[in-house]
Amino acid sequence: MKNTESGKIVREAMAGKKYASIENCEIEIPGPFCLVIFGASGDLARTKIMPALYRLERDKLVPEDFVVLGAARTEMNHSAFRELMREEVKNAFPGEFDRSVWENISRRLFYAEVDYDQKNSFMGLKKKIIALEKRHKTFGNRIYYLAVPPPVYEPVISNINSVGLSQEEKGYTHIVIEKPFGRDIESAKKLNMALESSFSEKQVYRMDHYLAKETVQNILMFRFANSIFEPLWNRTYVDHIQITVGETLGIGHRAGYYEKAGILRDMFQNHIFQLLALTAMEAPSIFEAERVRDERVKVFRSIRPFSLDRPEEVAVLGQYGEGKVKGEEVPRYRDEPGVEPDSLTPTYAAMKIMVDNWRWNGVPFYLRSGKRLIRKKAEISVHFKPVPHLMFAGTIREGIDPNTVVMRIQPNEGISLQFQAKIPGTRLCLEPVIMDFSYQKVFSLNDYERVLLDCMQGDQMLFVRGDEVEEAWALLSPLIKKLESKTYPKVFPNYKAGSTGPDAAAELLIKDGRSWRAM
Ligand code: BG6
Repeated sequence: MKNTESGKIVREAMAGKKYASIENCEIEIPGPFCLVIFGASGDLARTKIMPALYRLERDKLVPEDFVVLGAARTEMNHSAFRELMREEVKNAFPGEFDRSVWENISRRLFYAEVDYDQKNSFMGLKKKIIALEKRHKTFGNRIYYLAVPPPVYEPVISNINSVGLSQEEKGYTHIVIEKPFGRDIESAKKLNMALESSFSEKQVYRMDHYLAKETVQNILMFRFANSIFEPLWNRTYVDHIQITVGETLGIGHRAGYYEKAGILRDMFQNHIFQLLALTAMEAPSIFEAERVRDERVKVFRSIRPFSLDRPEEVAVLGQYGEGKVKGEEVPRYRDEPGVEPDSLTPTYAAMKIMVDNWRWNGVPFYLRSGKRLIRKKAEISVHFKPVPHLMFAGTIREGIDPNTVVMRIQPNEGISLQFQAKIPGTRLCLEPVIMDFSYQKVFSLNDYERVLLDCMQGDQMLFVRGDEVEEAWALLSPLIKKLESKTYPKVFPNYKAGSTGPDAAAELLIKDGRSWRAM
């Protein structure tokens, strides 16, 4: 065992395997690899992938032999690329940028210009990849990261294949593909077909960065590593479940994408549906990628198809007007740069979903998410049924709040249980008290580090399978189509920036005799 500079213990085990130990938890250090980032000059590569790689290197979680090839349309040489990435990483870690860590990455960082539509260009790329792999002894382990705009996914996939770069020979060949994965069921199927004709499902890593969040992974641990919650996790004891993902940010400079996407495609089809699946799924027999993904798919298959005759009963849409967020005046969505002045793109949605299976029959799942809300908050709350008989009715005048379990995804990550307790004193008064567990620490691995490591280790659990993505689109596509149609009335803007969302979202629950948790 040896102590590294960052205080991690590195252990060498049998068969050349190495492990790093972080906070008493062992992580296997993956074998050598070559990472090819398509779209290397873009935002995602600069702000997410490269900083994640830097932290992995800093924490000694990557092997000694690796190489990174950035590929994009922009004209650039190796040193300009290294300089660009260095600046981004420095900005990502102000005050804690370690030059020696960066140097270790920088000397393994290369750049190649590529024309995504041209097979010839990929022939040239192939030669460079093979030469780098040889020089850096990466044993044929290769990852393609598609950090390109969605319209370029298909040409890149087919050109990788056309020059013979998709097969696995000596090592593994994996491809990571970012969201959005299609914009409806038809385009998702088409993209899946493009992938299938070049790669096998075992090689494909469809990203949903919510699945890689530490607290989201903890949902399964909480449910299935404890025996006290699972007996209550069903229609007999649960009244309803709420999933909230609120953001204070607007759309920044992403109007080009967001105007065509809107909140249902951007947040519901992927992140929020995944949170729903983890909350509602059955326990897999073993904690293994395919078994876990099977159970997530089963949840999507059990969701009751949305009524297209009365869509207002399942979904409420909103778009933000001007307002104040964190004390600052912000413009309405329609005045954001690049947005049409009469845009009908929703920036908020609330939905009511029924999961028609034995466990959840009759239990509504209320989901909501929006931009420019009062605060950033992502949580899942499980609201239990009230006590069957109130024996205190004669003594206590007010009703008592039912128990609630809240899993806080971000910020202030943790889990709390609300229950009733007597207020000390001679009178019989009850008050809700909260038993709270808080992580209270910076997580060791962030979402993009987790994704990169899992992809290097060949663990697909936190990635979305082809059938999963199609099931989610199959549910949402018809509803989105209906809501986007010109005949469906939308009076936008209908909520103030810095508020909790449109009034109609509150109504969705009020008519069921329920209310949202405070934002
Ligand atoms: C992205 C969406 O997938 O997730 C963004 O495209 C959204 O619109 C983001 O802001 C939210 O992620 P996080 O990790 O900040 O909650």
